Amino acid sequence: MPASPHITKLGIRKKLLALREQLSADTRAAHSAAISARIVKLGIYRQASTILGYMNFGAEFASELWIQQVLADGKKLALPRVNRHTNQLDLYWVDDLENQLAAGLWGIREPIVERCERLSTLNEVEFVLLPGVAFTRDGARLGYGSGFYDKLLAHMTHQPALAAAAFALQIVEQIPQESTDVKVGWIITEQETIACSAEE
Ligand SMILES: Nc1ncnc2c1ncn2[C@@H]1O[C@H](COP(=O)(O)OP(=O)(O)O)[C@@H](O)[C@H]1O
Ligand SMILES: [Mg+2]
Repeated sequence: MPASPHITKLGIRKKLLALREQLSADTRAAHSAAISARIVKLGIYRQASTILGYMNFGAEFASELWIQQVLADGKKLALPRVNRHTNQLDLYWVDDLENQLAAGLWGIREPIVERCERLSTLNEVEFVLLPGVAFTRDGARLGYGSGFYDKLLAHMTHQPALAAAAFALQIVEQIPQESTDVKVGWIITEQETIACSAEE
């Protein structure tokens, strides 16, 4: 079904960001813990030995607990850093969150270039957790509007497992899609784990 003309990415982004802000800090922390617990039980996560995660921003899923679990599970962890020359994400291996990260774009903690090894190829990553503002049950993803992850994943020649963590209120009916928008395969909320391909 085509998206209604008045439903724009910008409109959904504004509405959902405001809605997410309304969750109390306590609720957000409880939901984030529930989501982390669900992710680490997923077969696609357990089977992966290399993970691309992200440090959280604003009122989104508080990823740090999960990130710590990734390291505790003995997996190799990559984190993104915005390259201001290319305006794309570069990926670095990180194993020490205290000493290898510093606040970058939007205050998000990013790998410090001098202290981390850069991934030679994106194909080294087996499981990706993507951030986002809104998702549909069939895996359409609305980001913050920079297309960073669409551009990153356009370069992948293999297909890693693509998952997203989101609060249940971030699931919407429709998101306008462009040809460059990459869909996720799994969405993990505090209430359920959605296998997106099963929803089509
Ligand atoms: N693979 C790509 N190559 C070039 N431009 C891209 C690519 N993916 C996305 N873009 C561009 O990035 C911009 C932001 O993408 P959009 O999907 O609106 O943001 P987001 O994914 O953050 O919600 C758009 O103008 C889009 O065309
Ligand atoms: Mg997009």
